[in-house]
Amino acid sequence: MPGEMPAENTPTGAHAASLDKGPAHRGAPQRLAQAALRDVPWEVGVAKPDPAIVVENVTRTFGGLTAVSVDRLEIQRGGITGLIGPNGAGKTTLFNLLTGFDQPNTGTWSFDGRPLGKLAPHQVARLGVVRTFQLTKALSRLTVLENMLLGAQGQRGESFLRALVPGTWRSQEKANTEKALELLRRFKLDAKKDEFAGTLSGGQRKLLEMARALMSDPQVVMLDEPMAGVNPALTQSLLGHVKDLREEGMTVIFVEHDMDVVRDISDWVVVMAAGRVIAEGPPESISQNQAVVDAYLGAHHDAPLTVEEEDQVLAEAERRIAHEEHGEVIDSDTTTRGEGR
Ligand SMILES: Nc1ncnc2c1ncn2[C@@H]1O[C@H](COP(=O)(O)OP(=O)(O)O)[C@@H](O)[C@H]1O
Ligand SMILES: [Mg+2]
Repeated sequence: MPGEMPAENTPTGAHAASLDKGPAHRGAPQRLAQAALRDVPWEVGVAKPDPAIVVENVTRTFGGLTAVSVDRLEIQRGGITGLIGPNGAGKTTLFNLLTGFDQPNTGTWSFDGRPLGKLAPHQVARLGVVRTFQLTKALSRLTVLENMLLGAQGQRGESFLRALVPGTWRSQEKANTEKALELLRRFKLDAKKDEFAGTLSGGQRKLLEMARALMSDPQVVMLDEPMAGVNPALTQSLLGHVKDLREEGMTVIFVEHDMDVVRDISDWVVVMAAGRVIAEGPPESISQNQAVVDAYLGAHHDAPLTVEEEDQVLAEAERRIAHEEHGEVIDSDTTTRGEGR
């Protein structure tokens, strides 16, 4: 199976065993991912031993602004890749491109050797690549469970209606509901299943977003600032959930600003600035890198959102989702925060 750790790297079924025994026995996939990357040079665009995602010559401009210009980027299978860079570096735009939420000016990218260009988000999701949003897309007037059922068909507005109309795909409905309830238990949201998503805290919405992404059984999960705006009491649990994805053999790309978190969680770190990848390497290589230090100097760092900003951002996200329901293309989930648009 493409999303599993490669068999030759899996000593005596360690991966399967770690799943059976649960989080107390975490660690084998992490060690395997780090071992696989140990001899990879710390160079931009460097080949990985077993890439799940390969990006080539992808550019995206908005007017005169080059938001993304990535010559080559390979993402190692089964590891957690931390994607960092100052605000406006192009991280969210890159996620949008790789998952079909936006189209590039040039370039190609593939998952397991299969080109993903020109596919819609739900098609990309069905092939096993999903993302979550920096601004969560939970629909506040749907219940937590209903939000989960939207994830079952991949990330597409239309499926939303099908998910709510009984009988249109009854055979799948029961299985999907069971899967949703199981994921809600895992993310400790089961007690909230019948509540409107709008009543959840910011952190719970992030958990719901992650749980929903898992409804389509992805092999690659891209998490856009899953910790942003999350109450510190929930950050450890969120981090644990991200590490669990790796334990289950998924490939994770993770945008995060807090360098302690990045160091703790990443097997490999990719640094973007002004649309380009300016450095990549294991976490310990990054703070010594002069290009990285320069990129961050004078860059404006993200501060946590205020409650008013969070409300504004959610209202904007819902407006965009409403548009999506009507089949319009959404350029980006980045809004507000004065990113110069
Ligand atoms: N839909 C859009 N229209 C115009 N400019 C955009 C759009 N989306 C992103 N940008 C610009 O592209 C650049 C990269 O943004 P983004 O990918 O959101 O960066 P990051 O996620 O690293 O903070 C920024 O300058 C941003 O203002
Ligand atoms: Mg972003």
